[in-house]
Amino acid sequence: MANIKFFSGEKFPLEMHKVKIVQKLNLIPIEQRLECLTQAGNNSFLLKNRDVFMDMLTDSGVNAMSDQQLAAMMQADDSYAGSMTFDKLESKIQEILGAQYFLPAHQGRAAENILAESFVTPGSVSLMNFHFTTTKALITKLGGSVEEIVIEEGLNPTSDYPFKGNADIDKLKEALARLGAKKISFVRMESGTNLIGGQPFSLENLRQVAQICREAGVMLILDASLLADNLYFIKVREASCAHKSIREIMLEICALADIVYFSARKLGCARGGGICTNNQALFERMREFVPLFEGFLTYGGMSVREMEAITVGLTETLDEDMISQGPIFIEYMVDELKKRGIPVVTPAGGLGCHLNAMEFVDHIPQTEYRAGALTAAMYLAGGIRGMERGTMSEQRDAQGNEVLSEMELLRLALPRRVFTMSQVKYAVDRVEWLYANRRLIGGLKYIEEPKVLRFFFGRLASTSDWQDKLVAKFRADFGDSL
Ligand SMILES: Cc1ncc(COP(=O)(O)O)c(C=O)c1O
Repeated sequence: MANIKFFSGEKFPLEMHKVKIVQKLNLIPIEQRLECLTQAGNNSFLLKNRDVFMDMLTDSGVNAMSDQQLAAMMQADDSYAGSMTFDKLESKIQEILGAQYFLPAHQGRAAENILAESFVTPGSVSLMNFHFTTTKALITKLGGSVEEIVIEEGLNPTSDYPFKGNADIDKLKEALARLGAKKISFVRMESGTNLIGGQPFSLENLRQVAQICREAGVMLILDASLLADNLYFIKVREASCAHKSIREIMLEICALADIVYFSARKLGCARGGGICTNNQALFERMREFVPLFEGFLTYGGMSVREMEAITVGLTETLDEDMISQGPIFIEYMVDELKKRGIPVVTPAGGLGCHLNAMEFVDHIPQTEYRAGALTAAMYLAGGIRGMERGTMSEQRDAQGNEVLSEMELLRLALPRRVFTMSQVKYAVDRVEWLYANRRLIGGLKYIEEPKVLRFFFGRLASTSDWQDKLVAKFRADFGDSL
């Protein structure tokens, strides 16, 4: 990361890139925002992007691409089978992830689908530091279940523990002893653990997990979708890695797992995904699913242009200026909010700034979706689209009961190299206003509730007229401001 100090003594992140292409943004008046929110069933996934000012929903497929990536896309070799573009990507995977075999897939969950089809059987258990929505849904669909083994600190929203994504080694040993290796489909470690606030694991923790898995004869799978953030945190927070290059850390991490998979909508800043391994038998077991679900083995549902962009994007992941950009902007935003007494997940992780809705709107019953309500209110307050990560994103249990999430978070994602400092300051300002008016925020209830992954396209209504009151307060405080 570039070491730049300011004469003023002020501390803030500096962009190590310049903008070459821009997209015009719209900030519509709050009354119109309320109409759009109602039309979207209070679900931020259903908002139209033309009605959004800052799209902080996700970093998935929306990171800014580099000039080098765009240039590479022009050289793509368009062929169904045996594309030279695929050979380039495969060589890059071999070089920087250290894996001999590569299976392409159209995005991360497609890779997860292949893993689930290959290794999950009814009654089997997948152990993981923490689940991700699509991972869990695909496993449970096949009759498997998920058990989480994240350290206790991982679920503590305010902490200074640097590696909250670590697996609890005692929990792992206990689960292995209780279930026996045969019942366990695999152990999965997620880098930059998404649902607990983009929190990393340490290299030392992964080493321990890998050794225990090896001794027990259980397969270890690494979800490397958010590996770029995790690499940065290992480099700056794990003293024993300070002298290592990003390339060395990356190779060491990948060598510890039997299988590595990733969403290239995140890792590599393009659109696609894939599965890598050095184990020929595992490769052959998974391979048949690629042509079945994705496409031929040399594209797996990806466009050749995107494969070119991923190849360059993976190389750029070795650049500390590149991988630090997200985390240092997130840290800035988290620090600014913390200074204002606003409950945020600490320490700052990757992916985005996470507001702790459990506390922010603690007057709303958890069954009325605290994080969902805060997400809706955030859009009203600033035209800012975040993502609910809490009970709304859970699935009901087999008996149809609501499963209350351990954390209720509003994630404000900072896609890499997309937002400027003044936009981040605007977001901080609107969060501050919302916090001052938090008691006006009320709950939500489902009016259309899909059975699987309900948060993507379910529709909700407010449980009272709280949204009208929030709009009126905004007008009283901001006058004719957008
Ligand atoms: C950790 C993690 N794994 C898997 C996925 C799924 O990837 P995709 O959205 O490309 O299907 C995501 C997406 O957000 C993710 O964050």
